[in-house]
Amino acid sequence: MTPSNENELTQAALQRLESAADPRFAQIMRSLITHLHAFLREVDLRPDEWMRAIEFLTATGKTCDDKRQEFILLSDTLGASMMVVMLDQFRAAREARAPGEGGDLLATPATEATVQGPYYWAGAPEMPCGSDIAKGTPGEPTFYSGRVTDTRGQPIAGALLDIWSGDGEGVYDMQTEGAGMAARARIRTDDEGRYWFWSIRPSYYPVPVDGPVGRMLDGIGCHPNRPGHIHMMVSAASHLPVTTHLFVAGSPYIDSDVVFGVRPSLIVDFEQHPAGPAPDGRALDTPYWSAHYDFRLQPTAT
Ligand code: BEZ
Ligand code: FE
Repeated sequence: MTPSNENELTQAALQRLESAADPRFAQIMRSLITHLHAFLREVDLRPDEWMRAIEFLTATGKTCDDKRQEFILLSDTLGASMMVVMLDQFRAAREARAPGEGGDLLATPATEATVQGPYYWAGAPEMPCGSDIAKGTPGEPTFYSGRVTDTRGQPIAGALLDIWSGDGEGVYDMQTEGAGMAARARIRTDDEGRYWFWSIRPSYYPVPVDGPVGRMLDGIGCHPNRPGHIHMMVSAASHLPVTTHLFVAGSPYIDSDVVFGVRPSLIVDFEQHPAGPAPDGRALDTPYWSAHYDFRLQPTAT
């Protein structure tokens, strides 16, 4: 088919997919072409604008290296990463609760997931419960505690929490050239599914803005900040893992996270305490904070 107008051009592009070997790939490409053509027509895109878009994507690619992933940042700031996270969890919950297929209708939903972000560093040190994982890191001391259970509330012993955050000024260890790991650890729950550890109260911070995504945010008039949060990847045998955060209630930008990562169920009240004995028996000579959160993991089908 030789297209002679815009409608025929879309049809011709879709027809090419008829010989695709993988039906899922064909489905994705069909939708992508349909929406892309509709977008170009809706805004009546001009050649110079298309060229600017291509230059933007080229610059995005050139900004990536083994430490910097500008395409993920683009996906995050467009809400695409969070959309994929939400769809994945909805799909898993739907499958787990499917009536007539062994679904568990008494279960409460698993802890909500959010974006992983670029600062995960595999291989954080394993530390026992009660450890201070942020020794020497600037920030106000915070006692974190809670439990890991399944979606029926049964405690999970030996669940793994892989934890990371920036410091109390919003800077991650990875952002300092040559710095080692800081404010990161892997901690396992005890026999009753409990965890507790010390770290700092994380501050809000800006995502990297010295590249094309920063210029895009500037162009649309959006601030580049994320509210204060600590990351956790929680996993246990025979359960679906969850990559999530705990957000500091009342943090600046809690209602306007630049990557759309905040979910109300993940906002935690950080309680302030005067210097003195802490819940784990430690004596603090400065005021400190505490944050309590119970994680729920969905059992995998057996
Ligand atoms: C983060 O929370 O570490 C993060 C997430 C998305 C983009 C940049 C940073
Ligand atoms: Fe973060």
